[in-house]
Amino acid sequence: MFAQRISTLSSSIIREILAAAQQPGVISFAGGLPAADSFPEPNWAALPPQIKQYGMSEGEPELREAIAAAAREKGLQCEASQVLVISGSQQGLDLVAKLFLDPESPVLVESPTYLAALQCFRLFQARCVGVPLGETGPDLAQMDAVIRSQAPRFSYLIPSFQNPSGLCYSVAARQAVAALLDRHQLPLLEDEPYCELDYDGVAKPPICSLLKSAPWIYQGSFSKILMPGIRVGYLIAHPSLMPHLVRLKQASDLHTNRPGQWLALEYMRSADKQARLAKLQDFYRLRRDAFAKALAEQFADLADWQVPSGGLFVWLKLKRPMDTRPLLKQALANQVAFMPGEAFFADDEPPVGYLRLNFSHTPPELIEEGLRRLRQVFEEAYAAQAVTA
Ligand SMILES: Cc1ncc(COP(=O)(O)O)c(C=O)c1O
Repeated sequence: MFAQRISTLSSSIIREILAAAQQPGVISFAGGLPAADSFPEPNWAALPPQIKQYGMSEGEPELREAIAAAAREKGLQCEASQVLVISGSQQGLDLVAKLFLDPESPVLVESPTYLAALQCFRLFQARCVGVPLGETGPDLAQMDAVIRSQAPRFSYLIPSFQNPSGLCYSVAARQAVAALLDRHQLPLLEDEPYCELDYDGVAKPPICSLLKSAPWIYQGSFSKILMPGIRVGYLIAHPSLMPHLVRLKQASDLHTNRPGQWLALEYMRSADKQARLAKLQDFYRLRRDAFAKALAEQFADLADWQVPSGGLFVWLKLKRPMDTRPLLKQALANQVAFMPGEAFFADDEPPVGYLRLNFSHTPPELIEEGLRRLRQVFEEAYAAQAVTA
């Protein structure tokens, strides 16, 4: 009865965990939720009446101008005509997948990568091929080998404070990746929803700005710097790709919601935008630091990790690897939630022994208790393993 692709449509483990994690009393390190205390209170009464009407598929012209100007400040040379306002950066994944993918098309992704991107690409029956991440960026030799052997349709990278690993590519890695993509003329989808959540002032030129000839799409979002509920993001594309992406957007939902775009433009124009961002960064830096301290106290003997310079996540690698997926049930029974790391790998048989912990959502006074509960889950699992061994 249904289209073939529906058989590949898995339910998102994220959505399931988020539902369980919202039970009262559960301390959740699972989702990627920005802290609600940071959301501004919109003055909806000031919404101009014309905004209630249908709008343009490309997005509000003034917002497109503002987005292009901000991208130029990051070093990405572009015009407003290259900006498409989308319903969250999640929609960009869908549009780009529709543009490039046929059944069985290979896509180059990071290993690990954003779970909902895997879900989206797989819906188009793509074959996601992972390239391992090292300490400063992807393994370039493996990336080159994947491009040569698999001929992917495009590459999907999250270079700044990656979800789930927290990795921020070094400038040298960005340059090397750009050179590699140029050499193979491989299109790049660069997904940067965490770029502004930078707590240590890291240099991070967009890889798209370093490309000389490969086609590119750069994505950003207002979800993490303003609020995710308005569902406003943007993509900026090489001029050759724009007409196709605009038509795909039109076919998908006509245009992004206009009150949300209005709010995003108010934010972009606000005189205190920089101060608001700095406040947000201070807020998250404190949470990151509180989390790092509690993690060092509770998990130093169980796992290894790097404290991230930005974003929302810490990525843990267990010293004694075990599949963390079956532990989620026990964790929820213990009133704590985490994200099993295995789900973020493209492989059919993913490597085991990883977990992703969100540090932005839990108030500092609950972090220690949450990590204590989580530690107990792992201690019990290791003890049970020892009994059965
Ligand atoms: C890497 C990545 N891309 C895209 C998204 C989707 O964000 P948006 O709220 O802009 O749709 C997320 C959300 O967490 C993400 O982590």
